[in-house]
Amino acid sequence: MKTKIIITGGTGYIGSHTAVALLESGYEVVLIDNLCNSSINTVGNIYSITGLRPKMEIVDLCSKKECDEVFNKHGDAIGIIHFAALKAVGESVQKPLRYYQNNLTALMNTLDSAVKNKINNFIFSSSATVYGQPEKVPISEQEKTKRPFSPYGNSKKIGEEIMEDLTLVNKELSIISLRYFNPIGAHKSGFLGELPTGTPNNLMPYITQTAIGLRDKLFVFGNDYPTKDGTPIRDYVHVLDLADAHLKALERILNGQNESPMEVFNIGSGKGYSVLDVIYAFERVSGQKLPYEITTRREGDVPELISSADLANEKLGWRATRGLEEMVASAWEWEKKLR
Ligand code: NAD
Ligand code: UD1
Repeated sequence: MKTKIIITGGTGYIGSHTAVALLESGYEVVLIDNLCNSSINTVGNIYSITGLRPKMEIVDLCSKKECDEVFNKHGDAIGIIHFAALKAVGESVQKPLRYYQNNLTALMNTLDSAVKNKINNFIFSSSATVYGQPEKVPISEQEKTKRPFSPYGNSKKIGEEIMEDLTLVNKELSIISLRYFNPIGAHKSGFLGELPTGTPNNLMPYITQTAIGLRDKLFVFGNDYPTKDGTPIRDYVHVLDLADAHLKALERILNGQNESPMEVFNIGSGKGYSVLDVIYAFERVSGQKLPYEITTRREGDVPELISSADLANEKLGWRATRGLEEMVASAWEWEKKLR
């Protein structure tokens, strides 16, 4: 009998890549998603890669009734990877209640169903945004969290606090919160990648959509930061490395290797690249010039975010293995296949 794992938000960008990693490692996988930001076609695409079809449950986790029903049905699962959330930072500033309501209600309903069904192993998608503007880089997990500037980011910080409170009273639970830095890239098959709705907010899809001709040019948000070339520095991590981090985190708690009921790990490459570095890497791998214009800073951007990924390496045995050019090339292949 295979071990059953539930992946919420499983048809999304990171969830689908993680589903592939789990299926390829021999797990039975159940995807739960309401498809508000993803497509049902993802299930077929996962099958095309793995030859295995995950079970798919179309459920809004904000509905307590639907959530209870689906977890009762899959109460024999032994772990949950919780990706389901809304993630558009700018939209969350405009619609704070929608973000708090969706992200926190879905999390609390999922945790409640997990506890009721004694599914005691839980991995949570957090974000480097919980560090706000850090005091120093690289950022270790010891760095104090700060109130993120956006409701989206704050829903991650509050989510971590809710889980911490829960582990204090529910001694059976083991939780790992993974704080992702900047996930980019796509599956090498070209079957899975990021599908932004509307105009992308993030750098990588904006670059590939510009190069394919959907956008006139990329706007570089400021070149007056205190960095080597004036543009902000980020820690980009390949989505396949990220998927692997989830597998390793899951195995840590399934094997009882966790050292406390709630552990937190940074998931980044530990390397920083500026916006111009990413543009130049794109030009090298695609062999084409990218039209761009330097414009004013974007509100809320910080000069530099780089992870210390040492703890993940020491405790999970995980390290990012794919470099910037590989990440950018896979994102470009995905964009070309989409059009
Ligand atoms: P995504 O939008 O591609 O995937 C999220 C999935 O959750 C979507 O398929 C969506 O339909 C589903 N969903 C949302 N609300 C739901 C609900 N109430 N019930 C059921 N399904 C619901 O996003 P992603 O990039 O794959 O991100 C996955 C997780 O990682 C999210 O929690 C996100 O906040 C977090 N994260 C993402 C990034 C990033 O850059 N992509 C960075 C840090 C953290
Ligand atoms: C953003 C979110 C962060 C979230 C992460 C993943 C903000 C302020 N932060 O991180 O909370 O966890 O996405 O979803 O929105 N850039 C441009 N032009 C563009 C787009 C981006 O110059 O059109 C620059 C930005 O200024 C930034 C870098 O590229 O310096 C990376 O931006 P982005 O991909 O949006 O990620 P973050 O801002 O780091």
